[in-house]
Amino acid sequence: MVNHLAIIMDGNGRWAEERGLTRSDGHKAGARQIGVAARAAMKAGIKYLTLYAFSTENWKRPEPEVSCLMGLIQEFAQSELPNMMRDGVRLRTIGRTGDLPLASRMALEFAIKQTEKNDKLTINIALSYGGRAEIVDAVNKVIAEKRTTPLTEADFVSYLYAPDIPDPDLLIRTGGEMRLSNFLLWELSYAEFYVTDTYWPDFTEETLADALASFGGRKRRFGGLNKK
Ligand code: IPE
Ligand code: IPE
Ligand code: MG
Repeated sequence: MVNHLAIIMDGNGRWAEERGLTRSDGHKAGARQIGVAARAAMKAGIKYLTLYAFSTENWKRPEPEVSCLMGLIQEFAQSELPNMMRDGVRLRTIGRTGDLPLASRMALEFAIKQTEKNDKLTINIALSYGGRAEIVDAVNKVIAEKRTTPLTEADFVSYLYAPDIPDPDLLIRTGGEMRLSNFLLWELSYAEFYVTDTYWPDFTEETLADALASFGGRKRRFGGLNKK
């Protein structure tokens, strides 16, 4: 059973280039797919959906592309809010979201506040997110508290961005690359991986169904023996 699904939404640029479109067109098409994925996830009984939307490294991209992505994030938070309220979806974010432009931040904060009591599905968007940044930020919180007693793993988790969200069971990466690209380094320790060549703008309910079928055939052992 997949309780928490994480997705690296990759391939927007290649999807667009193959169609003679701009990378920004690819991101627009990709942003539209988030609703599709969320509805499919909800139907499948998934409770948490963490989406990698913008990495700490993605700031290195050309300014027009970064601006386009920031605009799409704002638009997503505004235009999807009625749907999220209707469907009982809670919005959250993880990452160094203070780095985002004010307009995007405000739209996100508004939607986060409005949806905070919804509990059917939590969409957790990783924005200006890096797995290494998350760990460093956690260590810096420990330092700021002047804590001197040793930490257990559970103590350490309490300093991460979303300590109350259980670890992902399944990670899907679209666009075919077999790498983590700095996503959820701590939380993915025992997640199952599913990589598909499908580009993110082509992601459908069937793509999710294929991933879930693959997950259903895996034996999760967590280092022990035969634990399903
Ligand atoms: C993923 O698509 C979206 C972000 C990284 C923001 P890409 O823009 O990385 O698309 P490709 O990998 O170049 O095809
Ligand atoms: C990972 O994709 C980040 C997101 C999907 C937001 P990238 O396209 O940035 O990753 P690399 O550069 O191929 O590793
Ligand atoms: Mg990419």
